Parts: sequence; structure tokens; C-alpha cells
Amino acid sequence: MTIEISVKRQKSSDEKSYVQTFNYEGDGNLTIADWLTEVNKNEAKTDRIAWECGCLEKKCGACAMLINGYPSLACSVFLRKAAKRGKIHLEPFHKFPVIKDLMVDRSMIFETMKEMKLWLMEKNQSDYTWNRDLQYKAGQCLQCGCCLEVCPNFLSGEQFSGASAMVEAYRAIEQNTRDEHKKEMKEEYQKKFFNYCGQSLSCKSVCPQKLPLDEIQARVNNHK
Ligand code: FES
Repeated sequence: MTIEISVKRQKSSDEKSYVQTFNYEGDGNLTIADWLTEVNKNEAKTDRIAWECGCLEKKCGACAMLINGYPSLACSVFLRKAAKRGKIHLEPFHKFPVIKDLMVDRSMIFETMKEMKLWLMEKNQSDYTWNRDLQYKAGQCLQCGCCLEVCPNFLSGEQFSGASAMVEAYRAIEQNTRDEHKKEMKEEYQKKFFNYCGQSLSCKSVCPQKLPLDEIQARVNNHK
């Protein structure tokens, strides 16, 4: 098959973006991540396309980008499936500052979690009142940012934390045994998530891990 693959490129955050187009010929049995790796081997033909990856197995979230406008993990999308009328378009996320090409700065995700004090001081190993099944699912969140990219209420640098911090708030609040810290986390959750979420649930529809974000949110909202 022949696929025209266009990539939105930008040398740095202050430079103008442009689109570079490549022609792919093959059976389409490569992921977008494989294709980027192949293109970058041929430095004589083009400057390396900057993008991030880690596991290449849908386990770390580093390779999140817009594929045909939809937030996805590049290591889990195959060319043959992504091609729409023989074309694929790759762009960096729009809600985060571009570092270079397809790489964005997602550090605010972790800064927000720190601001919300989302960590465990102590964990009561013998407390079986947690919902273990839901805690396990919440633990699979990759912090990739796909949920934030589609959220109509989230803007980087603004007060609303978005779903990624909500998932961590659920994990930390339910498992924490220190009442004072739990109270602080609940106040932060109220301030940075609960007061702003418009319940569009676009986060749930786009999550690569298919996390039950509505169920997790209901659980943390009701946590005593
Ligand atoms: S490289 Fe880890 S999820 Fe894609």
C-alpha cells in the first residue's frame, strides 16, 4: 500500500511550524512509532523528527501525539489502520507547549499532582475497605495526557487539573491512612478538579487504557 504521511514540524517553541510530507510504500504493518524510527534512521534525507518513546508497548504513555487529529499512542497504532484515504497526519498535542516537532512539555501533569499533594505518607496494607479492582485499574493510568488534550475544560497552566490528577487523587485518598493529609488532598481535589469538571467524559472515550473514569470519579467524589 501507498500512504502519504504528513508531519507537523517545528524546530523549537518560538519558531514557525511547517508540514513535511513523506511517502510510505509497504504492507502497512508498522506502527507509527516503528515508522518514525525508520524515517529517523535516514538522516541523509531528512532531519530527525523529534518524538518521545519509552516502552514501545503501550505501557509508558511517552509516545502520545495526535494521529489524524485524535490523541493516541504512536506505538499502538498501525499504519494500515490509521490511513484514511491513503493519508496519515501527525501533530504534537495542542494543549501543551511544543519542545520540538512531536515532542511536548507535559511536566505540568506532575507539577499539578505535587500541588495537590497526591502522594502516600503511609499505606495500611491490611485495609480491605478499598475497592481493589478499581484501584488496580486506576494504577494503569499512563499519565500520557490524552484525556487532557480532548477535555473542553482543561487548559495548560489554568486551575483545572483534568482527569489524570483525578485518577491519582482517587488512588492516594482511598489508600492514605493519615487523616490530616487526606483532608488536604480532598480540599485540593475540590479546588482543582471537582469545581471545574463539566462531565463531558471525553476523557473516558479517548483513554488508551480504557479506564472507567466516570466510576473512579464517582468513587472519589463520595469518599468519606
Ligand atoms: S512508547 Fe510507551 S506507550 Fe508508547
